[in-house]
Amino acid sequence: METITLNNGVIMPKLGFGVYQIPQAETAEAVYQAIKIGYRLIDTADIYGNEVQTGEGIKRAISEGLVTRKDLFVTTKLFILQASEAGAKKTIAQSLERLGLDYIDLYLIHQPYGDIYGAWRAMVSAQKAGVVRAIGVSNFKSAKMIEFSSLVDVKPQVNQIEINPWYQRIEDQEWHEKYDVQLEAWAPFAEGRHDLFTNPTLANIGKKYDKTVGQVVLRWLMQRNLVALAKSVRPERMAENFAIFDFELSKEDMETITKLNQNESAFFDHDAPKQVEAFMKRMLNVK
Ligand SMILES: NC(=O)c1ccc[n+]([C@@H]2O[C@H](COP(=O)([O-])OP(=O)(O)OC[C@H]3O[C@@H](n4cnc5c(N)ncnc54)[C@H](OP(=O)(O)O)[C@@H]3O)[C@@H](O)[C@H]2O)c1
Repeated sequence: METITLNNGVIMPKLGFGVYQIPQAETAEAVYQAIKIGYRLIDTADIYGNEVQTGEGIKRAISEGLVTRKDLFVTTKLFILQASEAGAKKTIAQSLERLGLDYIDLYLIHQPYGDIYGAWRAMVSAQKAGVVRAIGVSNFKSAKMIEFSSLVDVKPQVNQIEINPWYQRIEDQEWHEKYDVQLEAWAPFAEGRHDLFTNPTLANIGKKYDKTVGQVVLRWLMQRNLVALAKSVRPERMAENFAIFDFELSKEDMETITKLNQNESAFFDHDAPKQVEAFMKRMLNVK
């Protein structure tokens, strides 16, 4: 497994397995299968509702001797409802308990709303106490990342954002490299939007290497020096998505993929008024 070193020296696998939208009843098995296939980075979140089952899958893999705890890199995230100092303190303890772990490898502020500075203080304390190895943010635009990184004592190690062939975040990557904040790609396949898995350009590139569209996309992210999360509930697809370390895309093919960029989210914009309003209603529990 290829790895990257974060700005605090913590080593992180470059390819991970995400459990967003995996039903609780399927999560433990999916996590166990993913670890069996070779994934070492597992990404969950308080709001996914499957931290307990993620922990069960991890526990089974460890108890069967597939891995030790140290081999794994487990991420979870703070939801907007806990975005305060006291809220973050409480929810970190809750996530540890749900996961059945005594430390979390990476803890992220899931959305850029609420008292993120208060939450960050609690996260820095948790990191100092050794219950969280790395801390970071998610869904922060570059401008927000710059503001935040400049005003906090411990700058984020990671920013997890949407990155896929339709929304490539090339300029964002330059800004994050300048600030030494590692970018991590969520929804690398854009959950299949804009017919990603049958895109002729990606399929034709794949044919040259005897690889699938999914493999081409993940390989493209690896060669951009990004961390990427892929989700599947099917072991054969988990294995397919993992088999990306035995080929290298040429410079020309990397450039061809760059041309697919639409520079627009395949989901939603975290700064769009309607979206922010929806998050605020959720935070304030109003209809
Ligand atoms: N921080 C955030 O706000 C945020 C937001 C979204 C996601 N994430 C993280 O990023 C992870 C990945 O994102 P995502 O789950 O939204 O989307 P994704 O990984 O882009 O796409 C997952 C979809 O692609 C399908 N798929 C996977 N591999 C495939 C293959 N080789 N061929 C064909 N179809 C394939 C899966 O179906 P099957 O399961 O049926 O195979 C699933 O429907 C999440 O699980 C989560 O951990 C974070």
